[in-house]
Amino acid sequence: MEKKGIKGRILSGMRPTGKMHLGNWVGALENWVNMQSDFENFHLIADYHALTTKLDTSEILQNTLEMVADWLSVGIDPQKGPIFRQSQIKEHAELYLLFSMLITSARLERNPTLKEQVKDLNIDTIIYGHLGYPVLQAADILLYKGNVVPVGEDQAPHVEITREIARKFNSVYGEVFPIPKTKLTSFARLPGLDGNKMSKSVGNTILLPDSADEITVKMRKAVTDPQKIRRGDPGRPWICLVYTYHKKFNPTETDEIYANCISGELGCVDCKMKCSAAISSVLAPYSGKRRYYSEHLNEVLDIIKDGERRAQKVAKNTMIDVRQAMLLG
Ligand code: TRP
Repeated sequence: MEKKGIKGRILSGMRPTGKMHLGNWVGALENWVNMQSDFENFHLIADYHALTTKLDTSEILQNTLEMVADWLSVGIDPQKGPIFRQSQIKEHAELYLLFSMLITSARLERNPTLKEQVKDLNIDTIIYGHLGYPVLQAADILLYKGNVVPVGEDQAPHVEITREIARKFNSVYGEVFPIPKTKLTSFARLPGLDGNKMSKSVGNTILLPDSADEITVKMRKAVTDPQKIRRGDPGRPWICLVYTYHKKFNPTETDEIYANCISGELGCVDCKMKCSAAISSVLAPYSGKRRYYSEHLNEVLDIIKDGERRAQKVAKNTMIDVRQAMLLG
């Protein structure tokens, strides 16, 4: 039964990548926080998916706790929507197996996200589990009968595969699953400080827990318009990375910065100082909570375990529907 005023279920998910960076926040978390009151939410930690690109499991738990500490500090409310690990709810594996019968390997080989990852990570042979990545993601979403999936562009092909699997299941065994919709995040992907894709492995990020000093030091290295060498030189804010950050984190000063950059009056060093200060003040309201949770990671784990108990119930009920529809047992 749907609750009053609730527009449906959101299934959001992320791999356990540890401390969150500004790109995670702008691209995903901000949306998750904003959608909490209109939808019923499920927040999934994709720890099985992490294995598709790294077999070493030694850092998964620590990365999970640090990631969730940041989720909590920016305002994800675990009471409104459970936070849980895929690996702790066995139904994910079960539904993944059943779904693997509903899609061809040729379809999975055409997945553009997989092709991009193979290129980015220099993978020479693709493991079976990596090929099946979107099938596991379909199980994540449909186990909770998710209606809406907030993702960045790179994940949209996976939601498309989820829709195909849901339709196939419903047409073969009867209506069990909703056909989920993709909700693309509104702000285009925030580039890293070197102008490339923001990624912790490259080291071009600002992390949510970074202090004001750390942000200033990192910002000093940010790339700017290469033609603007010293104050007085006219700059081109429209190609400048720091200006992109101003637009997001310092909207009230953007017009002035634009004009003063073009005229040359504003030098890059001062502009970067303004930008670091703006980012620090945007992050400041979260730092108290973040400090608390980072010192109480055991509480974070308790919150996750509680989420797992609640998510488990929903997963169990869906599998009853699935087995009934499939005449299994
Ligand atoms: N594949 C997603 C990513 O890398 C993480 C993910 C796993 C996910 N299962 C999901 C996202 C279900 C949304 C819904 O970002």
